[in-house]
Amino acid sequence: MIENDITINEVKKILSDKKRLAYVRSFGCQLNVSDGEKIKGLLKRIGYDFTDDEKQADIIILNTCAVRESAEERVFGIIGSMKKLKEEKPSLIMGLAGCMTAQEHVAEKIKKSYPQIDFIMGTSAINSLPKLLLDCLKGEKFSADTGEYDDFSENPEQVRESTFKASVPIMFGCNNFCTYCIVPYVRGRERSRKPEDIINEVRNLVSNGYKEIMLLGQNVNSYGKDLGNNMTFPALLREINKIDGDFIIRFMSSHPKDASQELIDTIFSCDKIAKHLHLPLQSGSNSVLERMNRRYTIEQYSETVDYIRSNDPDFSLTTDIIVGFPNETDSEFRETLDIIKRIRYDNIYSFIYSRRTGTKASEIVDTIPEEVKSLRMRELLEIQREVSTENYKRFVGRRMRILVDGVSKKRTGYITGKSNEFIIAEFAGDKSMIGSFVEIEVTDSMNWAVSGRII
Ligand code: 5AD
Ligand code: SF4
Repeated sequence: MIENDITINEVKKILSDKKRLAYVRSFGCQLNVSDGEKIKGLLKRIGYDFTDDEKQADIIILNTCAVRESAEERVFGIIGSMKKLKEEKPSLIMGLAGCMTAQEHVAEKIKKSYPQIDFIMGTSAINSLPKLLLDCLKGEKFSADTGEYDDFSENPEQVRESTFKASVPIMFGCNNFCTYCIVPYVRGRERSRKPEDIINEVRNLVSNGYKEIMLLGQNVNSYGKDLGNNMTFPALLREINKIDGDFIIRFMSSHPKDASQELIDTIFSCDKIAKHLHLPLQSGSNSVLERMNRRYTIEQYSETVDYIRSNDPDFSLTTDIIVGFPNETDSEFRETLDIIKRIRYDNIYSFIYSRRTGTKASEIVDTIPEEVKSLRMRELLEIQREVSTENYKRFVGRRMRILVDGVSKKRTGYITGKSNEFIIAEFAGDKSMIGSFVEIEVTDSMNWAVSGRII
């Protein structure tokens, strides 16, 4: 850190006191958004202010995602269109951060074909930003730090996107190697943060008025396994639940193979933990799950769901589904539809399989045409819409506690928020309520939200 302070001072000296603007855009998951907040924290220390207009910017950093090809294509499109900005303002500095940069073939392609990019910075190299910037300012053409995954330092400063919702990573990396997934290759092995650092961060956030704390990790259920001190995720949750204040605790994501009864008991016994679980299923077919290396069966997954629902039949579950995994047969896909109808998720996030170079699944010769996959996706969405519409009716006539997070895009005079169960609610109200909890009575349900009135 001291080394970084020296570099930051050197960069500041070169930039002098002139006002500089930075444009930072994060793609992908919330973990990446959280990394973007750390990048902004470092830029702020160097003396940058922020802009949403890339044309005004003196430095542009795109914090990329590699989980699907479409995310990468979007970034390549944006880099292409930003070439003009650099021609108009040669002093503009452009950097790439995030998961894309950790793939060797992508880093090579950028170095070779996109001279407008001055530096790339890996997910474990955020603290190298001042050094990379210094290289640029000293005239270096292209610098790269894709970092080692062995260490991460606690970042004291972050520029957070919200004043009432905060993401708090509790661990980095992933050990699971699902055959479709690039994450273990771009974010390395699991490393847990120290519980005291996490607890201090949450305590500070709550005392600064934050109302929702989202604990993040690729597989939060294996939190602590690398710490060697018997710390577990349920134990961490219980500690965070003890922190004084009116706030809600959420977490993402849980691998079903590690979702223990202890975790579920903890959710039910801790008043601040949201009564909602995101439990990525990926497929309803045991054969596909095996080819995905998910290491659970539908029967085991269903047992977890049954245990949850025996505690609370209305408990809110959401999931991720991949449609069109290589050689997924029609009957395997039907098994997914069946389980979706049976489990009655409040929401699903579904994705068409995307081939990622370097993963095990990318080696499979896939015989399923893209049109078939698109049709399956449409069918899945149609069924889920029916399930959600039916599901949301259970809230009508009930009270819900909502954290207001914005104004309605559809109706003037209306505001929106999320319930404890992670359901979107829309109701008449004033934007001054954004960032606080309100109590509503649900009067109506739609397939994507409920509506109601403040009581
Ligand atoms: N193709 C499609 N979807 C994917 N996901 C992860 N990798 C891929 C891929 N190669 C989805 C999974 C995961 C979510 C974050 O993204 O459903 O749970
Ligand atoms: Fe997040 Fe995975 Fe995308 Fe990286 S590749 S930003 S970890 S979703």
